[in-house]
Amino acid sequence: MDGPEEADSDDNADDDVLYGEHEIVFLEELWGEGFLSPGGPEEVARTIGDIEFTGRLVVDIGCGSGGVTITLVGDHAAGRVIGIDVEPPVCEQARARVERQGLSDRIEIRRVSPGPLPFDDASIDIVFSKDSIVHIPDKEALAADVFRVLRPGGWFVASDWLIAHDDQPSPEMAAYIAAEDLDFGMASPHRYRAALEGAGFVDIELVNRNEWYRDVARDELERLTGSQRGRFESLVGPSELARQIRTWTAMVPVLASGEHCPHHIRARRPA
Ligand SMILES: C[S@@+](CC[C@H](N)C(=O)[O-])C[C@H]1O[C@@H](n2cnc3c(N)ncnc32)[C@H](O)[C@@H]1O
Repeated sequence: MDGPEEADSDDNADDDVLYGEHEIVFLEELWGEGFLSPGGPEEVARTIGDIEFTGRLVVDIGCGSGGVTITLVGDHAAGRVIGIDVEPPVCEQARARVERQGLSDRIEIRRVSPGPLPFDDASIDIVFSKDSIVHIPDKEALAADVFRVLRPGGWFVASDWLIAHDDQPSPEMAAYIAAEDLDFGMASPHRYRAALEGAGFVDIELVNRNEWYRDVARDELERLTGSQRGRFESLVGPSELARQIRTWTAMVPVLASGEHCPHHIRARRPA
C-alpha cells in the first residue's frame, strides 16, 4: 500500500517535495498558521464531532506543518499525539511549532516513508487525518491498516477530498486534478464506505462537506485575485500566485457541480 512506514532520518530526504516552502507559505497565508487545509480549528472540531479525544493516544496521518496536530491536544485534550508525514519540510516546521508551544512531551512528529503504518497491532486509540489521505490511493489497504493499529473500540476520524463517483473524472475534474499537481488519489464515498466495511469497521459515517467548501473556495479565489492579491504576490511571487489562481479557478466549478466533494469520515473498530 502507499500509506506510511518509518523513514530514515530527514538527512536522506528527497528534495522533490509536493509541500515545499512556497506551498507552505501560500497555504498558511490562505488557511492560517500551521494549517495546510481549510477551515482552521473549527473545521477540525466539526470533523471530530462527538468523538471523545480526552486522554487518548492519537495518530495524525499527514500532520503537515502541525497546526491541526496541536489543535488535537490544545482544543480536544488528546493525551498524546504522534503526527506522521512523508515530507521533511512540513515535519521540520511541525516540530518547531510543537517546541515553540512547549508541547514536545505531548506531541511527537515522525517522518515516515509510504507503506504500512509504523505502529503495532491494536496499539492506538484514534487514527485521525485531515485532508491528507487523498495522497494515499489504495483506500482498501489504508482501511485495513488503520483497522489493524486501532485498539478494539477505537475510532478512525478523518476529513478528506473525495470525487463524487467511480467513473472517469469529467474533463473539468481532470483539468482540476492536473492543475493541483499534488499526486491526488481521490476516491468516491461509495469506495470509502466499501473499503471501511471490508476492513471490519462499524458505525461508518460519511458527511458531505461540498456545500461548505464550495462557498469558502469562492471566497478564497476572490482573496487571491482581488482584495489580497498584492499580499499573496509579495509572499510567493507572481508566477507561483498565477499557478495557484489557475488551480482555484479550476476547482470552483467542480465544487459547484458537486463532483469534488470533501467529506468527513468516521468509523469504529468493534470493541
Ligand atoms: C493538504 S496537507 C494537510 C496537512 C495537515 N493535515 C493539515 O490539515 O494542515 C497533506 C499532507 O499529507 C502529507 N502526505 C502525503 N502523502 C502522505 C502519506 N503517504 N502518508 C502521510 N502523509 C502524507 C503531505 O506531505 C502533506 O503534509
